[in-house]
Amino acid sequence: MAGLKGKDILHGNQFSRKDIEGIMKVASAFEKEGKGALNVLKGKILATLFFEPSTRTRLSFEAAMQRLGGGVISLGSLESSSVAKGESLTDTAQTVAQYADVIVLRHPRQGSAKEAADAVSVPVINAGDGAGQHPTQALLDMYTIRKELGSLKNLKVCLAGDLKYGRTVHALAEVLSLFGARLYFVSPSMLRMPEEITAGLRSRGIEVTETEDLLQAASLSDLIYMTRIQKERFSDQGEYERVKGSYVINNRFLSQLKKEITLMHPLPRVDEIHPEVDGYAGSAYFRQMRNGVFIRMALLAMIFGKR
Ligand code: NCD
Repeated sequence: MAGLKGKDILHGNQFSRKDIEGIMKVASAFEKEGKGALNVLKGKILATLFFEPSTRTRLSFEAAMQRLGGGVISLGSLESSSVAKGESLTDTAQTVAQYADVIVLRHPRQGSAKEAADAVSVPVINAGDGAGQHPTQALLDMYTIRKELGSLKNLKVCLAGDLKYGRTVHALAEVLSLFGARLYFVSPSMLRMPEEITAGLRSRGIEVTETEDLLQAASLSDLIYMTRIQKERFSDQGEYERVKGSYVINNRFLSQLKKEITLMHPLPRVDEIHPEVDGYAGSAYFRQMRNGVFIRMALLAMIFGKR
C-alpha cells in the first residue's frame, strides 16, 4: 500500500512493514508535540458509527480527530437512529457519507466494514467487524510493543485467550508476522485461532505453536498479549460457561515465570488479568490504550494526505 491518502483501513493484511514503520513515525511525532489541538484537519468531519459497545476505540478516535482540529459526529444510540426502523448498513453508511469526510465503523458482522467501504466514496475505517479484524488496534499494539520492548524484530509473542472470536489478535498476528515474530497461540481447544490465519502465517515462514499451556508458552516469550473470552459471540452460552476463566494472570502466575515479561491487553478485561498486577512494571495495558490516540491521529492525518 503506497500511502494512506484516501484509503480505507479494513484489514491487518493490507499493510507492509514499511507502511507500519511510517505510521508509527507520524504517531511518535504527534506524541512528542503533546496534546495541544492542531489545525491539521480543520474543517474535516469524522463520523463514528458504532453498532456494538465501545469505550476506548470510539473515544480515542473522537479525541484524535478533535486534537487534529477536526469535528466529530456520532450516530449515538441505535435505538434513536433509523437503524431501529430497519435501515440497512449500506444505506446508513451512504447517508453518513453525505455529512462526514471519513467513517469509523464498528459492527457485529464480519465483512461489514468492506461492505460499507464498497458502498461509499469516503474512506471507511474498520473499528471491529464482528469476529473479523480490528486493524487500528493492531497498529497501536505494534506502537506499544516497540515502546515497551525497544524493537519489533524477531519477538517471541504469546497471544492468549479467545483466539477464535478475538478480532484484535487476528489483526495483530498479521502485522506481527511482517517483523519475523515467533508466535505462541494459547487458547482452550474450542477457541483456537482460525485455521486460515495460522496456515497463512506458516506459509509465510512464521513459526507458530498452538497450545493450551499458558505458563509454558509464557516462559518462552517476551510478551503476553491477553484477551477477553468474547462472550457475545457464543451462540451457546453453556459453551461460554465452560471456557470462561480458562486463564488468569495474577501475582502467583507471574512469580512462576521467573523473569520479567511484558503484559498487554486490548481491554476491556473481565477476569483474565487480576487488578493486583496493575502495578507490576511490565503491565503495559493502560499505556497501550493511551497510545491509541497517537496512532489514530497519525492514521487520520495520513488518510487526509496531511502527513
Ligand atoms: C476489543 C474489541 O472490541 O475487539 N476492544 C478494543 O477495541 N480495545 C477487545 C474486546 O472487546 O475484548
